[in-house]
Amino acid sequence: NLTGLDLRAEIDRLRKERNAVILAHYYQKPEIQDLADFVGDSLDLSRKAQATDADVIAFCGVRFMADTAKILSPDKIVVLPDMAAGCSLEDSCPPEQFAEFRAQHPDHIALTYINCSTEVKALSDIIVTSSSAEQILAQIDPAQKIIFGPDRNLGGYLARKTGREMLLWPGVCIVHEAFSETELLKLRAQHPDAPIAAHPECPAVILDHADYVGSTRGILEFAQRIPGDTLIVATEPHIIHQMEKAMPGKTFIGAPGADGNCNCNICPYMALNTMEKLYLALRDLTPRIEIEEGLRLQAKKSLDAMLDLAR
Ligand code: 13P
Ligand code: SF4
Repeated sequence: NLTGLDLRAEIDRLRKERNAVILAHYYQKPEIQDLADFVGDSLDLSRKAQATDADVIAFCGVRFMADTAKILSPDKIVVLPDMAAGCSLEDSCPPEQFAEFRAQHPDHIALTYINCSTEVKALSDIIVTSSSAEQILAQIDPAQKIIFGPDRNLGGYLARKTGREMLLWPGVCIVHEAFSETELLKLRAQHPDAPIAAHPECPAVILDHADYVGSTRGILEFAQRIPGDTLIVATEPHIIHQMEKAMPGKTFIGAPGADGNCNCNICPYMALNTMEKLYLALRDLTPRIEIEEGLRLQAKKSLDAMLDLAR
């Protein structure tokens, strides 16, 4: 029974005792973002996990992010407050089916979004994140045929932007699929001077209206540059917490779903992590990420390729 415990103080105490670093994604609850040692997008979080000299990484994000931390830092204990914190993109791409897809296209390389399982990373050539995808794609020989998975929206966006044809795996993020074009246009009519920033996991009908498309970090940086004082944000709304902290004079409005508000765009997987579960994870050093060594080494190749190319 945790009632009466000062969770914030207890987490601080355990973080020191365990020599732990707390890494959090921008989609985490504000109270978790506020106590994290580092808050970032998928690429920056991987780099932090690789570089840390802590003994324990408490990863406040989803499973594929914590797996990535373990692949890159195998000697650390990596805990994820709730093991059920998955991702619909990862679920959309079972490794056996992905292996079959690859086998059907032997002359293609697999460029794969980091939002996938360790098994799918092991079946891939190069991993990308939304902040590194364009830069990495530009370094691949134009004659090289490419399979891109599992996010067909990010893949479609890259193909449109670069003119590069790719074979797309049909996965989607349930959170970014939930934005409504009709409601977005209504909101923009109410705020005609407010630019729209969108994550590339959004469908093309949403991206078509965006003034800026980029990763969570990219959207945060764009918010600093807007000429006016209002921004419409088409990604998971918890990122607005960082914007309000950094830019208290500006107004940030979450893009709506079909019901007209942005609550349906909260990532249900990210939301599974709580202060209570983070406290227990640091106290008991469980749930812990474990990856079989052969699989880890195979998956690490495609992640190393990303870290080399995303300079
Ligand atoms: P970023 O790399 O932009 O943080 O995206 C991660 C993610 O899961 C978006 O839904
Ligand atoms: Fe996965 Fe979408 Fe949640 Fe990101 S927002 S973790 S892509 S389900």
